[in-house]
Amino acid sequence: MSVVGAFFGSRSVEHEVSVITAHQAMAALSPQHRAIPVYIAKDGRWYTGKALTELRRFADVDALLADCVPVSPIIDPTTPSLTLAPVLPARRGVFGRGASDGVVIDVAMPLLHGRFGEEGTIQGLFEMASIPYTGSGVTASAVAMDKRLAKTVLRGAGLPVLDDVAIERQRWRDDPEAALRAAEALAPYPLYVKPVTLGSSIGVSRAADAGALRDAVEVALTYDERCLIEAAQEGIVEINCAVLGDGADARTSVLEQPTKTGLLSYDDKYRSKSGESAGMKSTQRLIPAPLDDALAARIRAAALASFVAVGASGVARVDLMVDVEAQTFVVNEVNPIPGSLSFYLFEPAGLSFTALLDELLAIAGRRHARRQQTTEVFDRWMLAGGGAKTDG
Ligand SMILES: Nc1ncnc2c1ncn2[C@@H]1O[C@H](COP(=O)(O)OP(=O)(O)O)[C@@H](O)[C@H]1O
Ligand SMILES: [Mg+2]
Repeated sequence: MSVVGAFFGSRSVEHEVSVITAHQAMAALSPQHRAIPVYIAKDGRWYTGKALTELRRFADVDALLADCVPVSPIIDPTTPSLTLAPVLPARRGVFGRGASDGVVIDVAMPLLHGRFGEEGTIQGLFEMASIPYTGSGVTASAVAMDKRLAKTVLRGAGLPVLDDVAIERQRWRDDPEAALRAAEALAPYPLYVKPVTLGSSIGVSRAADAGALRDAVEVALTYDERCLIEAAQEGIVEINCAVLGDGADARTSVLEQPTKTGLLSYDDKYRSKSGESAGMKSTQRLIPAPLDDALAARIRAAALASFVAVGASGVARVDLMVDVEAQTFVVNEVNPIPGSLSFYLFEPAGLSFTALLDELLAIAGRRHARRQQTTEVFDRWMLAGGGAKTDG
């Protein structure tokens, strides 16, 4: 029985989406594992406690957190471990029988979307703690979540991506006219504007003219230090393909086609008609996407190549924009921790969410074992015996 730390929430605009992903995953986790919820609140404080496993309790977060234990991660540099230690003296028994000084996590499962979780930060903590964790490593997470870097890597791997112009906040403040001219030189209107490192369509807009472009850049730059501008792809369909595995040893899911045309908003993606939030599964979508086999095969090959190019691991979802008539497509982005871990794209091929999680944990274990084999410390002290040279 391994103790799986289910990390969710965090200081991210995609906080609520993460709460849903985590609840779906904790509910699906096989009874061979014990899930410990680790909730990172919007203010960055960490909590654990059984109440966090009940989704309905999130309707009143203050009341929920009053029933939880504030914890802090403790790393012991001499042994691979991550302990959740109570910030205040804990009530007896909150961590289970006999354990009053914290709970030790065997494997970390980041179920976080967006900043402070999907882009390599918490993965760095798990690396420092030397514990296995599911999903992509530090570099792949960081590259995938930076839309500009990701495109550079994908382009380098020969994958089709859109050209863009990036605008930095300071440059925008200093000389908006020059920034607008640079954007307008890219392509005729309409243009798309998006923050470089967000997700869930937050801060993304379509601009049909210069006035709208100005507003769109203002909005995007409130969410991020940089935004990027692309030519709007009109008359395309969006197709998503999840990939599961480790590096080149990976396989693709069925394809999904979100059915709403135009910009998919946060609400389109995550809220059902009744206004109730139910996660990615409730979104309007066609699964499998109604594409002919040859085009679908090319898209799946591109998704797999994108996963490999950014160095992803575990499950990632590659989103593409497809011109069905011309039979062409561009890769839009790679999501290293997709909503609901894309379980609904593997289920049609017979892989249950429980089996998907088992596979993610198995991959995490294999990657961890590989890392442990890598020589991390040189025993010989170069500085010993006065042998140090100062000329490099
Ligand atoms: N260049 C584009 N042309 C047309 N639609 C776009 C373009 N870029 C983004 N979109 C639309 O905006 C949505 C969100 O943009 P995306 O790049 O996927 O960012 P996010 O990381 O927020 O999901 C996409 O799902 C798509 O509907
Ligand atoms: Mg997207």
